[in-house]
Amino acid sequence: MKIRKPILQLGTYSPPLEGRDPNDYLLMDFNESPLPPPAHVIEALITFIQSNRLQTYPSYGDFLEKLGKYTEVPSDHLILTNGSDQAIDIILRALLGEGDQMILAKPGFSMFFQVAGTLGAKCISPQYHEDMSFPFHEIMEAVTSQTRLIVIITPNNPTGTSASLEQIKTILQTYPKTAVLVDEAYFEFTGQTCVSLLKEHPNLIVIRTFSKAFAIPSLRLGYAVAHPFFIEHLYKIRGPYDVNMLSLVAALEQLKNPGPWQEIVREVITEAKPALEQFFREHEVEFHKGDANFMLVVPDDVNAAVGFLKQNKILVRPMRPPIENMFRLSVGTLDGAKRFMEVYAKYLVQ
Ligand SMILES: Cc1ncc(COP(=O)(O)O)c(C=O)c1O
Repeated sequence: MKIRKPILQLGTYSPPLEGRDPNDYLLMDFNESPLPPPAHVIEALITFIQSNRLQTYPSYGDFLEKLGKYTEVPSDHLILTNGSDQAIDIILRALLGEGDQMILAKPGFSMFFQVAGTLGAKCISPQYHEDMSFPFHEIMEAVTSQTRLIVIITPNNPTGTSASLEQIKTILQTYPKTAVLVDEAYFEFTGQTCVSLLKEHPNLIVIRTFSKAFAIPSLRLGYAVAHPFFIEHLYKIRGPYDVNMLSLVAALEQLKNPGPWQEIVREVITEAKPALEQFFREHEVEFHKGDANFMLVVPDDVNAAVGFLKQNKILVRPMRPPIENMFRLSVGTLDGAKRFMEVYAKYLVQ
């Protein structure tokens, strides 16, 4: 058996998922919703399971029309994917071959680097600035004749910082023949989107997910928004049944009745996050607040801080180079923030 060289050279992307039981720990490590989806979502899932439909292949009905209303595009601008991870996978497979260049600032979401690696593509990675601001000029200057794809994650995971609409527009305008993929996984926390730029810029592709604000990461649903000519090609790569029906049933409920998830987003952004920011300021702990449902914290000793939190049943995510001196703190309910502050205050006086 001959494995392709780019695969042989790659490591596995394996996030530290083991032992993450929400009954044992306060989970502040994976940018998830702090609460399960509301009762009407669970009831719809149970009804679906009891209606003798698990044994049939998925049929997606008019879900794309409904999602189109939410996203404000016609349904032929959309494709559903098995989590936005799969959107990343099929979009990169459509655009990148061996030796092609992808530009994506570091630190950025690992899946992009992993998929580009499997294709033998080269990643050009300008660094986020020390204040975590988006390296716009560096990205503009990094583009070459080999560049096939520019990726912008906004807000970015893990820095939390955003690219402005003006910056995205300038990149689209300056490089109209290069695909620009904007990852809006955290859109629901900011309300800021570049989808409207699609009308004038057919080189734009946007991806989103139901894993964050919509609270169903275990069901795996994401989607891409792009011009129909590009969407058509993506359908050739995605399998016809890659998206499971349970994810659609739950997503439909979340779209129909947005009140409960919007209330959690409101609590995260307007109550829990400001409380944490104030706490860090008062205790003179350096942090980067970002725009999404997480922030970066810079402790004196990251291993000691993460270890102390874990001993006290709170999980956070230590970062890798170039920000290995920080941990990422996912923000949930105000109660969760209070528990974190209580424990972290003890850590600080040790
Ligand atoms: C920026 C970004 N994009 C995409 C994803 C993938 O999410 P999913 O595959 O669950 O939709 C994540 C998950 O953490 C993310 O942070």
